[in-house]
Parts: sequence; C-alpha cells; structure tokens
Amino acid sequence: MDPWTLEYEGPDPQGALVRETLCTLGNGYFATRGAPPEAGAGSTCYPGTYVAGCYDRAVSTVADRRVDNEDLVNVPNWLPLTFRPEDGDWFGEPAAGLPQRTELDMRRGTLTRTFHTVHAGRRTHVTQCRLVSMDDPHLATLRTTLTPENWAGTVVVRSALDGTVSNRGVARYRDLNGRHLAPLGAGSENTGTAWLRCRTLTSGVEIVLASRTLVTRDGRATTCATPTSDDWAATDLTLNVRTGEPTTVEKTVALYTSRDRAVGDCLDAALHALDRAGDFSELARRHEAAWRHLWETCSVEVDSERDQRLLNLHLFHLLQTLSPHTPDLDVGVPARGLHGEAYRGHVFWDEVFVLPFLNLRFPQTARGLLRYRWRRLPRARASARAAGLRGALFPWQSASDGREETQELHLNPRSGHWLPDNSHLQRHVGLAVAYNVWQHYRVTGDVAFLCEFGAELLLEVARAFADMAVFDEELDRFVIRGVMGPDEYHDGYPGRAVPGLDDNAYTNVMTVWVLLRALDILRTLPGPFREELQESLGLEADEIARFESVSRGLHVPFHEGVISQFAHYEDLDELDWEAYQGVRRLDRALEAEGDDCNHYRAAKQADVLMLFLLLSEEEITDILERLGHARDPELVPRTIDHYLARTAHGSSLSSVAHAWVLSRTDREASWEFFRDALGTDVEGAPDGSTAEGIHMGAMAGTVDILTRCYTGLAVREGVLHLSLRLPADLDRLSFDLRCLRQGRVRVEVFRDRVRVSVPASGGPPVTVRVGVHLVSVRPGTACLLPLA
Ligand code: BGC
Repeated sequence: MDPWTLEYEGPDPQGALVRETLCTLGNGYFATRGAPPEAGAGSTCYPGTYVAGCYDRAVSTVADRRVDNEDLVNVPNWLPLTFRPEDGDWFGEPAAGLPQRTELDMRRGTLTRTFHTVHAGRRTHVTQCRLVSMDDPHLATLRTTLTPENWAGTVVVRSALDGTVSNRGVARYRDLNGRHLAPLGAGSENTGTAWLRCRTLTSGVEIVLASRTLVTRDGRATTCATPTSDDWAATDLTLNVRTGEPTTVEKTVALYTSRDRAVGDCLDAALHALDRAGDFSELARRHEAAWRHLWETCSVEVDSERDQRLLNLHLFHLLQTLSPHTPDLDVGVPARGLHGEAYRGHVFWDEVFVLPFLNLRFPQTARGLLRYRWRRLPRARASARAAGLRGALFPWQSASDGREETQELHLNPRSGHWLPDNSHLQRHVGLAVAYNVWQHYRVTGDVAFLCEFGAELLLEVARAFADMAVFDEELDRFVIRGVMGPDEYHDGYPGRAVPGLDDNAYTNVMTVWVLLRALDILRTLPGPFREELQESLGLEADEIARFESVSRGLHVPFHEGVISQFAHYEDLDELDWEAYQGVRRLDRALEAEGDDCNHYRAAKQADVLMLFLLLSEEEITDILERLGHARDPELVPRTIDHYLARTAHGSSLSSVAHAWVLSRTDREASWEFFRDALGTDVEGAPDGSTAEGIHMGAMAGTVDILTRCYTGLAVREGVLHLSLRLPADLDRLSFDLRCLRQGRVRVEVFRDRVRVSVPASGGPPVTVRVGVHLVSVRPGTACLLPLA
C-alpha cells in the first residue's frame, strides 16, 4: 500500500460523493471536488468549486419563517470536458465492465483517472490528470489523453465553463435558497479560449473563469467557439485520432474574483494568467515543487501503513484548505474545508484544533487566521454591546463580516422537524480565539504580534467574559448564565422556557484562564503600547481589577466528586445507554421519539474534558485552587471516567479530544480514540457527512495528538520542550517543524531516546529540553537524548 496515494478501482455510485470530497484538489485559494469532468446536468456527482472567503447571503422560507443564510458559494464549474466520435453521442460515463481507476497522488497533488469509453463498438482508453496549482493559486489544469484502441477517425472534444451551478450539495439544506450567482456574460473564441463572468447576488463578488483548451500532440486539430449563453461558454476541438496513438488535450483555467489583490479587471487578470501559464508539464513541475516544499515543512512519519496514509491524507487536505496562500485572503478556518457545503463553509471554534498545527509549521498562516478574527472585532464588539457587555463577543458561526451566522432553525433529518437552533449560545468560541492568540504568542515569542493586534483581540474577549460574570449573592460567587458549552446536546434546562445553561464549567474555567492571560499581556506589553491600547479601548483600572476579582471568584460547579458540566447537572437522569448503543446522533434519535437530550447526562462530545486538552494539569489545578477548591490528585481521572461513560461521540472532534485527554490516564484507550479519529473521513464520520466536506478539526487534531500530545512538545521562551507519553503501539515517530524563531527542526522519537536535528542553514541554534537535559543543537548537527 503506497501511503501517498488513495486509489479507487471501478465505479462506486453509493460512495461517489465521499470519493469526490476526498479527491478534492485545492491550494488554499480555491478547491474543486474530485467529480468527473463529464458529469452533466442530472448527474449524481457534485462538482463543487469553492473560493476561500467567497460568501453570499440568500433568503429562504422554512417552517413559515423567513431565514437568511450565508453560504460559501459554489462558483462556476471549470471542469466540463467531454468528447464524441464525429458521428456519435457525447461521452457520458466510463464503460461498465472495463477497468477504471482513480488515483489521488498526495505527494504531488494530482488526481488521475483511467478508464475506457465505448461508442458503437469503438473503444477508447482515456487518462485524465488534473491539478489545482499550489504554485500559482489562480490556476488549474486538466490533461486528457485519448487512445483509440480499435478505431481511427474524427473526435470532437468539448471544453466548457458552467455558470449554471447553485449550492445544492447538502440534502438537508435543499429547502433553502441556494442560488447565489447572476451571470454577467460569457464568450469563446476559435483560438480555444473561453471565459465566463458572474457576480454573487448579494455580496457582489465578481467571479471570472477563463480557459484555454488545446491539443498538444496533434497538429491537425481545428478549434471553434460554440454558441454561448450568459452562464455557459464552450469551445469545440475537432481532431483526427489514430488507432493506438495517444492524443492529448490540455485545458488550463484561471480563476479570479474581485476579492483579489493587485487586480484591476478580473477578466483581464484571468486572460493574462493564461497567457503566462506554461503547458501542463510546466504547470505540474512548478506545482510539484511547491508541494515538495510544503511536505518538507510538515511531514509526519509513523510505522503503520494505514496510519501513515491517513496522516498524509489529513496533512494533504489541511494544506489544501489553509496554505501559504491563505494569510492574504482574510479568511478563517472553514470547519469542513473547501471541500463541500456542510455548515455552509462557516467558521466555528474548530480553529482551536487547527492553529497549534499551523503555529509550529506555518506561523504566518496561523497569524493570517487570527487576523481574520481581529478584522471582525467591530461586529463582535457590537454583539457584546447588544448583550450589555464591554469587549467583544465572537459569533458561534462566522463567515464574511463576522456577524452571527448560526441558523435559527435546523432540520432533524430523522424526524423531518425544523427545530430552534440555540447553538449561538456557545459563547466559548471567543475563549478559543483568545486561547489561540496566547498560544501563537508563546510559540513565536513575538511581542510585535501582540502589539500589532494580538493583545487587542485577547483583551476584548477577556472584557466580554469578565462582564458576562455577574455576582450571585446567594452563592457568594460570580456566575455566567445562559450559555452552552461545547456539548451541543444540552442547550437548556428541562422545563425552563429560556434556553441556555448556567456555569458551564468549560466556559468558566477558560474564562479564568483568559482573564489571567489578559493580566499577563498587560504586564508584557511595552509601556507606551500598553498605554495607547488601554486608552483606545477605554480599559481602565477598575475594569482590570474586575479581571482579577472574577478570576478569583467564578463559580465552578461540582457533583459526586467531579467537575459538573454545568450547574444542576446532577439533577439530570441517566440515559439507558444500552438502548442507544452505537447511536452517535442521540439528539436526532431522541427528538424523533419526542424526547430530548436535555433530560439526560448524555453528551455529544467532550465538554468539561476539553479543559484537559487545552490546559495542563498544573494550570487547571492552579485555577481551581485560585477559586478556592482544595487540590485533589484524583479529580482529573475521576472526571474523565465520569464523562467518558456518558458521551455519544456525535462529533468528529470527540475522538480527538478523548485521545488527547486519555493520554494522561489510559494510553491504550487514548490510542484507540486516536486511530478512530484518524479514520474519520475515510472509514466513516460520526455523522456520516464526509460527502459534504472534510472534518478539519479531526484532521489537524490527529496530527497534533501525535506531534504535541504524545511527545509533550511545547515551545516556551524559545526552548523546545519534549516530555514523551507514547502509547505502547507507537514505536517510532518522526516529524518536521518550522518555528518562527527556531527555523526548521526534525524530531525523531524512539522508545528510549529522541533525536533532534537542525538542517544546515544560517539560522540560530535550537535549544531543546528533554527531562533534565538541556542542549543546544547547531544548524547542520543533531543530538540524541535519552528519555530516562
Ligand atoms: C460540533 C462543533 C463543531 C462543529 C463544526 C459540530 O458538530 O459539535 O463542536 O464546531 O461541528 O465542526
């Protein structure tokens, strides 16, 4: 099994949409699903193309309510290419019964299909290879080689750009308006060039595709423009083919939008890009070189073939969604990649699983994603004001401008009911933003980042949470009411009319942590910066004193010797877990039976336990002590056991979180969760929704578990710390990092020792601490450290 390829033999109508997601090619700027170019109207394939950050809002009516939704737009399809013998029908799908194969090459970033077509006994072998350039993010190319096996004659190849598309990739959203494009015109020329221009209906983003389709190995082709409409442009090539001789057609496409920089007119930019683009081989050479550099920066190697392939797949899709092209695009982390339409391309808190991966390899990309949040502070501030708070409240679902994009109603596909969606109460998303600011600063050690925007972002989140805490006389504590934690199966109390829970422990402990970091930041910033920032924010001494008092007096509920997920959790019933064995979407199952998860001690995913992922045991203990709780060494294992027994793992993030958390108490179980998380998109996601996009959190989370959790890797004050807690089945692990200050580092972990090497470069030495050993590794050298 080649760990760098994903192969599919034969057709698989049932699994086709999942395949298309997994065979998506992208470069951080745009991505195209692995659908076949010949898929026409009425096909079950879904050839979506998505441009990072290109959203559009549409109004729909569901359950007699007017709702508006912002979608990551499915932009015009650049793939269409088909052919026919002069006197035959257009090729529709590969001939059944003859070999066909699809191969994703993750090292090179190419997707290759081989198959046969048969037109009235005339058999043609076809090879089709495509790439979405990692070198020039505006370019993609598709090379088709036709080899007639038992005939010769004339073939017509049609290459088109299709602007008739809409967003219809998710069955659950089909009642919603998915129309986002208004055509602005299209055209084609006898030179083999076609173009198509459209604009998104409400956000007004202009999108242009231009294509050039040429025959490379047959001088006798004639090209002609075919009639176009406003949303469809095509060119036909007529060529002679000979038995056994391959003929190659190359279609190269340029994609620009009015969101791009350094562009006057999108069509002009696209045509210019086509003029400069070399042929397929040249584009492939540059594209593969770009991929080679990416892999050198972030490879991860393990012994198991299955795990290696899945890890490569995770890294591959992460890099196709968030690449070195990302920082300039003003985009966040789309929870489902640029691979489909689940969650409408929105940005949730999943970046808390993704940024640690980027901080240690692509710090500029991580910073670009944080800047996406910073640019949306005005909306987040307005949302805080509306709630009577200072500071900033980030939305649970974010898209173009940072307003709350969470839908008001969601469909339970099991019951067919449209239900109120209260998940906007997941205020904790802001805590994840602040957490990421601090982690980015810790890893990069870059005070300039704090001065530029990091400090402002973290302080504004801290202010909102400090204000959200109100003093409860009876409890003699601060409390935070009316929120939801990460566990989406609980959004309120049975019998209480107003949604929301009180004192979600995850929210409250993370609030204390963020308030402490806000105080640290105020101490860290150089004096003049701090004064200027405080003045511009209107952050005065009494508010800072409030950070201090809330961080000492916030309520964290307990029951039965464990941290309670929220206040009065102990009053909930136990679920009959046997009756629901294997049911991951308990919310849907119970609602369909007229019941409600809110009645039960049953979680979708890690909630309290997320604390043990994000914070060290020491940090949690310090916070709890600060809040007046006695030190209890058994608290962590007890709390893990309690919730583990009551979690349905209805989110792909759950296995990641549990793998991480259990690495402290039960490495065997941790390893099982890790391997489950690795299989998320290939072997079956909890919600079975890979057809609608990849799971970015699970993809980044698994890489992070191997490289940070099991190795205890942390960068603090410029020192690389390692303290291993390897599961028994992980014999060998090696990986590359590239930190802002340290440059490139390679870490190889064996059972009893670890080797750290620094490639030759003009960079500084890297300081490494493993246990009691503190060594400095000069560029061009390596050191081997014992683990005892
Ligand atoms: C999870 C959230 C997550 C979202 C997007 C949901 O199923 O419960 O925690 O942010 O998916 O990935």
